[in-house]
Amino acid sequence: MTAIASPVRDQYEAFPYPPRDPGRELDQLHTTLIGQLALANHVLAGGHWSIGSGFRVLDAGCGTGDNAIFIAEQLRGTGATVTGVDLSEHSLTIAAARARARGLEIDFHHARIEEAPALGIGAFDYIVSAGVLHHLPDPGAGLAALRSLLTPGGGMGLMVYGQYGRTAIYQLQELLRIIAPPTLAAEQRIAIARRTVAELRAEHWAAFGRDTFAGEIELHGDAGLYDVLLHSTDRAYTIPQIHEWLASGGMRLARFIMPVLYEPSLYSPSLDTSGMNLTARQAAAELLHGRMQKHSFFAARADAPPLDAPPWHDLAAIPTWLRFDHDGLIRRQLAERPELHLVYEGFELRLTLDPFRRVMLKSIDGRRTLGEILVEMAARYPKTTVQERVRKWNEAYAALEQFNLLGMRAGARSGCL
Ligand SMILES: C[S@@+](CC[C@H](N)C(=O)[O-])C[C@H]1O[C@@H](n2cnc3c(N)ncnc32)[C@H](O)[C@@H]1O
Repeated sequence: MTAIASPVRDQYEAFPYPPRDPGRELDQLHTTLIGQLALANHVLAGGHWSIGSGFRVLDAGCGTGDNAIFIAEQLRGTGATVTGVDLSEHSLTIAAARARARGLEIDFHHARIEEAPALGIGAFDYIVSAGVLHHLPDPGAGLAALRSLLTPGGGMGLMVYGQYGRTAIYQLQELLRIIAPPTLAAEQRIAIARRTVAELRAEHWAAFGRDTFAGEIELHGDAGLYDVLLHSTDRAYTIPQIHEWLASGGMRLARFIMPVLYEPSLYSPSLDTSGMNLTARQAAAELLHGRMQKHSFFAARADAPPLDAPPWHDLAAIPTWLRFDHDGLIRRQLAERPELHLVYEGFELRLTLDPFRRVMLKSIDGRRTLGEILVEMAARYPKTTVQERVRKWNEAYAALEQFNLLGMRAGARSGCL
């Protein structure tokens, strides 16, 4: 790696992020939505990726390894490979120890993202980069470097900061650059930041917006505080800026991780959005929400034709769970609970499991086609009509697809209802 003095590298050498203890690695698997490979496959490739031997994933700016490890767990025993790149040697040491604790092989490289194309690490089908590109001096250069590492059919899962939701944070960052300048030792800066935050006047914007940064400090201590309030290189994006940034890097936004959050009608049901294009709707949703701190999304190559998943009513398509059920949560709920209940990023799904729905959802095994499942349902529930069975499937699928739980994968033949 080129040895250039970098306050970003110094920060993550001193405070690897997120703080993780390899000794407690087996207590918990840290999962993310952009790390869900079946979901990425559904959104970016219409389920056409063959996630097995030869499939290659890069975690760019992997830090202490959450995404790299989560993805490697999903790929265990498949012959697919995971590579991690990061600027901080200390973070990589932790990530490697975590992988060892799980018996996972991950190929880690100490390098800048901007230099990754020169490492000779080959091309990747899926590149995930969470909370990293907004810390580069030139995020466009980082995106271009990653774009050059994509296979022709590959795509990305990215998370960058949202501007409006971090308003209070940027006001505090500016203040702290004055009263706790980078010339001071990190411990002094942290102490001043902690005192300042504790003494904020109740009327201060940052006191109203305390929840936008306090959670990070509570969860990750000094590493969290440094990351959120004392970072040297940190920019955020509005929706139009994300679209422009991606376009200038030869990419396009395929889908936000939680598309429903980017629908203005969620916040303002009476609003007429009929004249707005997609970007305008998303931008309006961001402004109506007011506090989105992060934007997580899938991005596809701009030069690749979109590969849509089959529609909900394709009888020859295969309904497929999109969530890696590592803790058996879905399996258990389908077996014994009155409803499917999941919370994702503050969003709650509650889907009542009447006997019909329970049987139908339990028969989704990633092999049977929708046609086969509906034929089985007709045999088990002969008093239901075709229309009823299709309606029940449509309702369940719409709720679960929007919640990133269920998708359709192309089967051998297609044949819609
Ligand atoms: C906020 S942490 C995120 C870590 C990880 N992606 C996650 O989501 O848990 C940012 C990471 O990006 C790394 N980083 C920052 N700039 C980088 C660059 N130019 N090249 C490679 N890594 C970089 C830092 O060392 C740090 O580990």
